[in-house]
Amino acid sequence: MREIRPEALRQLRQARKVTVLTGAGMSAESGVPTFRDAQKGLWANYRPEDLATPAAFLARPGFVWRWYESRRRQLQKLQPNAGHQALAAWQLKIPKMTLITQNVDDLHERAGSTGVIHVHGTLNPVKCFDCGASYQLPPCSDEAENAAPDQEAEVPRCNRCKGLLRPGVVWFGEALPAAALHKAEQAATDCDLMLVVGTSGQVYPIASLPGMARSAQVPVWIINPNASVLDDQASVLVRGTAAQVLPALFDRVS
Ligand code: OAD
Repeated sequence: MREIRPEALRQLRQARKVTVLTGAGMSAESGVPTFRDAQKGLWANYRPEDLATPAAFLARPGFVWRWYESRRRQLQKLQPNAGHQALAAWQLKIPKMTLITQNVDDLHERAGSTGVIHVHGTLNPVKCFDCGASYQLPPCSDEAENAAPDQEAEVPRCNRCKGLLRPGVVWFGEALPAAALHKAEQAATDCDLMLVVGTSGQVYPIASLPGMARSAQVPVWIINPNASVLDDQASVLVRGTAAQVLPALFDRVS
């Protein structure tokens, strides 16, 4: 991080209200496969685009549920990385950190971050397809991981309305949760500094948050080992991975 100017580090050190936006790159070093990675193992012949839609779920709920069970099971075996932990530790040191994530995993929470805004939903909690009631599922069994895709699962039902439970994620063709989006947009402009970690900036409306911050004169720091379309919005660009850069950065400002 030799390239970061002392004035920029001062900005980071003095920030009291920080908004952080994370994407799939944040969880890459924990071993979470990104959405765009080819699927492996039992599900290698299926495309996420054909599974992650309301129509796919309604056509074969037990099949889609089985796929999400296998993803939840994989996630259970993974751990937050040093980047997640650094953000959680930093949240305790400053008056306000708003953490917005596009990730459907719970690794920020498991590292200790609180109040995380999941703009693309969550693998768990899940929700009722009909009334939207939210349910936290117990851990998945080994059987869920090893079940063949055509061995359709029995989908649990809502205690309130008996509707089918569905994954809590935002599917293709669905709107983002309105309250989460509203909070995210507010946090993008009402902060001293925005950190953008591990997102390609290809998926809207979330990809517009760094631009909104810049328009509000908020300095935007981008942490990504690779170039992205968001680079033009950066006041500080740090080429490196989340688990390497975040702990080193917070060491230098704390
Ligand atoms: P992408 O998979 O599009 O981009 C991941 C970004 O992380 C890329 O820019 C990589 O260069 C970067 N990256 C990779 N490894 C990294 C590391 N170790 N540390 C930091 N950065 C790293 O993921 P998102 O931008 O999150 O939406 O994708 C946004 C949305 O697209 C997802 O939330 C999902 C998908 O469609 C929904 O599910 C609604």
